Amino acid sequence: MNEDFVVTPWEMKGEVDYDKLVTRFGTSYISDELIARIPGGRDNIFLKRKIFYSHRDLDWLLDNYSAGNPFYLYTGRGPSSGTHLGHMIPWMFTRNLQDAFKAKLYFQMTDDEKFLFKDSLSLRDTENATMDNILDFIALGFDPSKTKIIIDTRDISHLYRIALKVSKKVTFSTARAVFGFDNSTNIGSIFFTSIQSVPAFLESEIAGRNVPCLIPCGIDQDPHFRVTRDVAPVLGYYKPSLIHCKMLPGLTGGKMSSTGEAAIYTTDTDAEIRKKIMNAFTGGRATVEEQRRLGANPAICPIFHHYEYLFEPDDTKFKKIEEDCRSGALLCGECKANLLAKVKVFMDGHRRKREEARKMVDRFLL
Ligand code: TRP
Repeated sequence: MNEDFVVTPWEMKGEVDYDKLVTRFGTSYISDELIARIPGGRDNIFLKRKIFYSHRDLDWLLDNYSAGNPFYLYTGRGPSSGTHLGHMIPWMFTRNLQDAFKAKLYFQMTDDEKFLFKDSLSLRDTENATMDNILDFIALGFDPSKTKIIIDTRDISHLYRIALKVSKKVTFSTARAVFGFDNSTNIGSIFFTSIQSVPAFLESEIAGRNVPCLIPCGIDQDPHFRVTRDVAPVLGYYKPSLIHCKMLPGLTGGKMSSTGEAAIYTTDTDAEIRKKIMNAFTGGRATVEEQRRLGANPAICPIFHHYEYLFEPDDTKFKKIEEDCRSGALLCGECKANLLAKVKVFMDGHRRKREEARKMVDRFLL
């Protein structure tokens, strides 16, 4: 394939065109009518701003819900390093959905996946990252009576029977076509997608009858769940529904990568956060004079996107930032300082809740 950009669960390359992905992957846009069927949907920052913008079978899931057949939620995290703001967007949205639908949630920590796919990481590394990342997840306020965290290496006895059934229905040729594997791929990686399928069926297995499942995730995870959805009917389960989000753009321009200056991590100090924001790439002009005269370009600016995705939920205020940026009334230095103040408020709260989460971990484990 000679593509201008690449999105797989393991790699993002080039300038991602999210509209093209909908066509390439064969998903659907979330219509305003669908948003209106989600309690609080119209006011939800991630839905109204089209950050969660694509889906599979969300209409089917909501029809079932209206008919008295509730669903559960499933999402997860590949623990390779600390947690940054971009990682938490799908978790925050999942929290909104849990509240809106009073839904049960499985959160899968794929320490096995990150070990298999990252040469540089040992199993110890990904297990340690798991215990660290869990704190960020719990800090977002999930209901422990409705939320269970699955840690793959530790909870494999609950997963293995279903993973086996999945793996028997997925050929190497399918895995190779979906994920781009070749003869040098380790065999653990080839098997792994069966493990990521399991939580989509787990509740049906436990309940002894089919229970609909909704998976909020970055659209980069869609390839896994295409496999999951293909095998579902063969194994007698419902296909899970999906709701996909875009990735928060990195502060250095381009994709928010998992390392370095591009992202704000929950363990960063205030000084580190200040440095990352103040040094960030922007859509600004070369000189103040030029920017006052010509205005700047919010569309390519990660600072602007941080307001859009997380830090300015008020539409009127958000629109003013955009207008003042375009007109040249708002300069990048000021805009960055305003964002920094908002990030600081968020981080102060998050750090406190993250510490409190340490005492709650046991209540969330399977
Ligand atoms: N593979 C995901 C990652 O690398 C982790 C994951 C597992 C996940 N199950 C999921 C993500 C379900 C979203 C939904 O981050």
